[in-house]
Amino acid sequence: MKIGSIFEDELAQFVETLLCIRPINRDVDLLHQTADDLTLFRILNRLNHEYPHIRLTWRDITEHRTINSLAQLLRTHTDERNVPTIAPKTEFLTASPSQRYQIIETSLVQAIGNMLDLSVQEISKEWSITQVDRHQLYMSLAWAFKRDFDFPLYPQELAADATVRGLVEYLTHELEIQLGLGQQPAHHPTFQKGPATEQPKRHSAKHQSGQQVKKVVLILSAPRSGSTLLRLMLAGHSQLFCPPELNLLKQTTLTDWIYNRLKRFPRESRVIQNLMALMGFTMAECEMILDDPSQYKIPIADLYKRISKHSGKPILVDKTPSYAKDWQTLQHAEELFDDARYIHLVRHPFAMIDSFVRHRFHKLLGDPGCDPHLYAERVWQERNDHLLRLAQRIDTKRYHRVYYEQLVQEPVQTMSALCGFLQIPFEEATLRPYDGCRLISGPGDYDVFQHQEIEPVLSKTWQLVNLPYPLQTSTLELATYFGYEAALIAQGE
Ligand code: A3P
Repeated sequence: MKIGSIFEDELAQFVETLLCIRPINRDVDLLHQTADDLTLFRILNRLNHEYPHIRLTWRDITEHRTINSLAQLLRTHTDERNVPTIAPKTEFLTASPSQRYQIIETSLVQAIGNMLDLSVQEISKEWSITQVDRHQLYMSLAWAFKRDFDFPLYPQELAADATVRGLVEYLTHELEIQLGLGQQPAHHPTFQKGPATEQPKRHSAKHQSGQQVKKVVLILSAPRSGSTLLRLMLAGHSQLFCPPELNLLKQTTLTDWIYNRLKRFPRESRVIQNLMALMGFTMAECEMILDDPSQYKIPIADLYKRISKHSGKPILVDKTPSYAKDWQTLQHAEELFDDARYIHLVRHPFAMIDSFVRHRFHKLLGDPGCDPHLYAERVWQERNDHLLRLAQRIDTKRYHRVYYEQLVQEPVQTMSALCGFLQIPFEEATLRPYDGCRLISGPGDYDVFQHQEIEPVLSKTWQLVNLPYPLQTSTLELATYFGYEAALIAQGE
C-alpha cells in the first residue's frame, strides 16, 4: 500500500476482503459494517506492517473508524511519530535487568496515557486499572505490546486490581521469558501422559432431538498447525461454508455458548454478535438475547442447522482446533452429526511447539506457571493422539489426514485429495486463500494478514527450531508414526 491517491482504494480492498462486504462504504463507521474489535486489531496489524514508522495506537483506530478518516490519518502522519531510535524489542534484548524494567514502564505508561489522554507524569506507579474501562485498556495494551515487542497479551493477564507497578513487574518478567532472557530449567522435565479419558462411542447415538445435523465437516488439529490457512483455502469452494472458529460443539445450548464466549470476548467487543449473525440472528435479536442469555436454551444442533441454512451452502466446515482437546467433545460430534467427516491436520511438532510458545498459548490454555515448551508438546501429543484414536473407531471414509507441510508445498495435490474426500469437485479458488469473501475476521490467527499467499517456505521452519530439551519418547513415537522420523533424526544429529 502507498500513501497517495490510490491509497484509499487499497485500504478499502483490504477491509472488503476482511469483512466480506463489497463495496464497503468509505464514510460509514466500520463498526456499523460488521467490524468488531478483532477486525480493528487485524487492520492495525496490517497497517503497522506497512507503516511501522507511524506507530499506530489502538486509540487511532477507534477514533478513525471509516476508510476515509483512516486514510487521512495515515496521510497526516507520513512523518515519523514518537518513534524510538532503537526498536523497543531490540533495546530490551540488549538492556540490563533494571533498564528492561524501565523500557516496559515507558511502553506501558505511554499506552495508558495515549488511551486516556493523560500525560506520563499523571500516571503514577500506584495507578490502578480499576479506574478505567478494562476492555479498552486491554485492547490498548495488547496492541502496544504486539506492535513494540511482538508480545501477545491475553485478557486474563490483566488482574482486575492491577497497578502500573504490578503490571510492569509482571510484563518485564514475562517478556524476559519470552525472549529467552529468563532461566531455563537445569533438569530435563517430563510430563505424564494424561489418564485414559472416556473414548468416543463406536456407533453414533441419535441426538436427543432425534434429528442429527447433516453435512458437517470438522477441521481438527493441535493449535498452530495451519488451520486458519486451511479454512481460508476451503472457504473459496462454492459448496463449502467455512466460518471462523465457532467453539459450539463443547456446549449444549446457546445460553451455555454465550456465557462461555463472554469469558473470552466481552459483549462490547462485538465478536459474539458477529458470530451470532452467522446463525441468522439480526443485530437487534443478538442484543436482546445478550441482555439475558439464560432465556435462550436453543440446542446446539439447532444452531448448526441455522448456520447451514443461513449460509445457503450445502456443507458446513467447522474449524475449531480445540474440539480435539477431549474425548467428550469428539463424542458429542458423533452424537450430534449424521456421518460427520473429520479433517485431521498435522504439523511437525517442533514447528507447532515453537509457534505455540511464541504466541504464549500456555497463558491462554495452560495452568499458571506451567513450563511453556512442555505444555505445548503435551498439547501436540494429546490432540493428535485423540484424533488418531477417533480415526480407528470410525469408518475410514469419514477421516482424512492433511499434513501442513504438504499443504503448503503441494497445495494442488493436497486440495484435490481433500475435495475427493469431501466428494466435491476440486476448484481452483481453493488455492487462493486471500481472494474474495473468506470470512477472515473473527476468532482465529491474528497474523493471518501477514501472509498474502500460501508460503511453502514455512513448511521448513521446524528446521530452525531449537527446543530447550528433547521430545518425550511418547511424542517421538507419535511423530515417527506420522512420518516425521527422518526430520527428527536429522535434528538430533
Ligand atoms: P507460525 O506461527 O509458525 O508462523 P493456526 O491457524 O492453526 O493457528 O496456524 C498458524 C500457523 O499457520 C502459523 O505458524 C503460520 O505460519 C501458518 N500459516 C498461516 N498462513 C500461512 C500461509 N499463507 N502460508 C503458509 N503457512 C501459513
